[in-house]
Amino acid sequence: MHLRDVVNIGDLRQLAMRRLPKMVFDYIDGGADDEVTLARNCAAFRAIELVWDVLVDVSSIDLRADLLGAEVAAPFFLTPTAASRLFHPEGERACARAAAAAGLGYSISTLASVPVEEVGAAHQGPKWFQVYVWKDRALVKDLLARARASGFTGVALTVDLPVVGNRERDPRNKFSVPPKPSWTIAQQMAARPGYLWDMLRSPRITAANLVGTGKGFGNLHEFVASQFDRAVTWDDAAWMRETWGGPFAIKGIARAGDAARAIDIGASHVWISNHGGRQLDTAPATIDLLPEIAALVGERAQIVLDGGVRRGSDIVKALCLGASAVAIGRAYLYGLGAAGEAGVAKAIAILKAEMERTMALLGARRLADLGPHYLRQRHQL
Ligand SMILES: Cc1cc2nc3c(=O)[nH]c(=O)nc-3n(C[C@H](O)[C@H](O)[C@H](O)COP(=O)(O)O)c2cc1C
Repeated sequence: MHLRDVVNIGDLRQLAMRRLPKMVFDYIDGGADDEVTLARNCAAFRAIELVWDVLVDVSSIDLRADLLGAEVAAPFFLTPTAASRLFHPEGERACARAAAAAGLGYSISTLASVPVEEVGAAHQGPKWFQVYVWKDRALVKDLLARARASGFTGVALTVDLPVVGNRERDPRNKFSVPPKPSWTIAQQMAARPGYLWDMLRSPRITAANLVGTGKGFGNLHEFVASQFDRAVTWDDAAWMRETWGGPFAIKGIARAGDAARAIDIGASHVWISNHGGRQLDTAPATIDLLPEIAALVGERAQIVLDGGVRRGSDIVKALCLGASAVAIGRAYLYGLGAAGEAGVAKAIAILKAEMERTMALLGARRLADLGPHYLRQRHQL
């Protein structure tokens, strides 16, 4: 299959599987333990039925939305993902460019493999800087200052990773960033000469925003155990919100009570996420958590949701249930792994076209028309 023959995100996944060595593909594609939540995130979207209005003039569909105080072409953006240069030599640069070209928001991970300054230059629109709480608070302050200077408008504090989830595909594949020599990896690389050639010609993959701090990748579990603060509490989140001073999201919220606490410490956004099923397995699907959290949050904060979005109709469903924006993860990473910037652009175009078609078929012209009246819950798949 060629990129021009791709018709949906599933096709991009197939293309990524063909270009990437197994350990790299599995790092994107996999989840924790038995991957129950990974599958559930997607299945829960499929279990929601759409019911339409007839004889509505849908000759034009308007997807424009507000993100972090700026207009974006559609209400979805690219979620933060670590070490994207592992998937394609251009990494986060390619993703930021594709998002900017489509008029969409972007978010960069603290563990990105391209410096925040370069990403800021490649994407002038609204964008999030994702942080973890590090043991070294001076480093956190320095990162926030660099993000601000690079034009990042919001900060998202990820709170669902006090320890790394048990992603069993990784140790089976002897996965590390950058890859360490082993027989398993040599075999997997030999099976993907195009990828190997690209990687050999591009600079070593590093945690580009931590260069000079003595911190870097290697074994993700050891890295997180040595650098991330497991003792983080609401006081630390409040400290970070104050230190940043601008739009602030807590990413990884699963309970209405925690959404309320996020608002109490001044968060402008509640980001419902289970890390794409990569952390606590058998957690509920994020879309199933949305109604109760939205009921509590009301107008007091905006809701971002991620997890399992593979169709434009999934985005529409999340908006109907009260999300103001939806973040996509694997959907664009499959594109990046398949074909770099062109692949990310393809993923975005597919989801946008699917959203437009879904809204036309529903009889909804603008995002403001969306609501729970378009949905029904089906109890059996
Ligand atoms: C390969 C990969 C790396 C990720 N790295 C990060 C990260 O560095 N920080 C973070 O907050 N979330 C990270 N996530 C989680 C995503 O931000 C997001 O919550 C998740 O991918 C959404 O689910 P989806 O992939 O089903 O869309 C990562 C996800 C993937 C697939």
